[in-house]
Amino acid sequence: MQLTDDERAMLDGARGPATAKAMRILVTLGDIFGAERLVPVSSAQISGVSYKTVGDAGLEFLTGFGDEGARVVAPAFLNPCGMDLQRWREMGVPETFADKQLCIIAAYERMGVALTATCTPYLAGIVPAPGEHVAWAESSAVSYANSVLGARTNRESGISALAAAICGRTPAWGLHLDENRTASLVVEVRAPLLDAADFGALGVHVGRLAGGRIPAFTSIPAAGADQLKALGAAMAASGSVALYFVEGITPEWRLAAEPDRLVVNEADLDAVRRALNTTDAPELVALGCPHCSVDELRAIADRVQHGLGGRRLWVCTSRAVAGDPAAAEAIAAIEAAGGHVLCDTCMVVAPIEEMGIARTATNSGKAATYLPTLGRQAVMFGSLDEIL
Ligand code: F3S
Repeated sequence: MQLTDDERAMLDGARGPATAKAMRILVTLGDIFGAERLVPVSSAQISGVSYKTVGDAGLEFLTGFGDEGARVVAPAFLNPCGMDLQRWREMGVPETFADKQLCIIAAYERMGVALTATCTPYLAGIVPAPGEHVAWAESSAVSYANSVLGARTNRESGISALAAAICGRTPAWGLHLDENRTASLVVEVRAPLLDAADFGALGVHVGRLAGGRIPAFTSIPAAGADQLKALGAAMAASGSVALYFVEGITPEWRLAAEPDRLVVNEADLDAVRRALNTTDAPELVALGCPHCSVDELRAIADRVQHGLGGRRLWVCTSRAVAGDPAAAEAIAAIEAAGGHVLCDTCMVVAPIEEMGIARTATNSGKAATYLPTLGRQAVMFGSLDEIL
């Protein structure tokens, strides 16, 4: 890989051992994936934040990296952690978990990472421009950045995103390059898509079938930002899709000469819904995967006016959205109904299975995919109207 003088100096330790280590990570990845150079990144979004996912080994690594002097130079933001940093006791998070979680947060803070703790940084004012290079790690945010915003990022790991933040660069391979942003799977949708759960079911189905191909959807007449985030999140969870196009809606549309073709019917989506539904008696309704927008908070508030029927309700969002005055009325209504609007965390990265919860309802294709394995949950998957 060709390095600039500055990059070579970083690799040789001119900015200290932690930056040299971060540069070694980037150069090694670049060599593995055939990158010819590094590109500057305007931001990094860092996953690997919940103690549930990184454990003691992760905590030890982050603390040690900080001790070595690791500090970010690019604007860097955190993915959700394992608890609401202010309301974790109310959530029922075990004290031992909370202690470790707070140490992880402190380690990131010491490195200069902003404690956004959200998977929707683009709803918190972090909106890269079309063509801008970033190093984001959370798969749904990666999908949104590439597909809806037209920015450029590979699906980074927590470590490679942190290394990019420390060096301000990432290897130029994969989705950073024009030639790799071409769809080779045209997906014709012949099913009504009425809400985020329908887009989630579609995403689960296509993500499973896409393999390494970039899907390009036709026959989707309308899709708002919330539906697109649901679609992308589900495809990234059931498969590894990091970029997709929707004809007439997303900013890019580039097709391979002879793309494969897939038709999705209502029966396909029904099969997904049946497979994801493993309980009809949820104890918890968990919404906000990816983290809720203001519009989604309002839609939930509308549906809980008459109470929750004895179920617990978590609505996950970012502290930025929760602090938006436009969200205040909806949040007050959800809390008045007995729900909890939680920030910094979600149903998947919180230690839900250690909190006496075994059956969860969600409208998210991504959460419904992960909860059985990562949270040991039986799942009810459906639209807001069905689960509230
Ligand atoms: Fe976000 Fe958690 Fe879903 S990190 S995308 S709410 S699994």
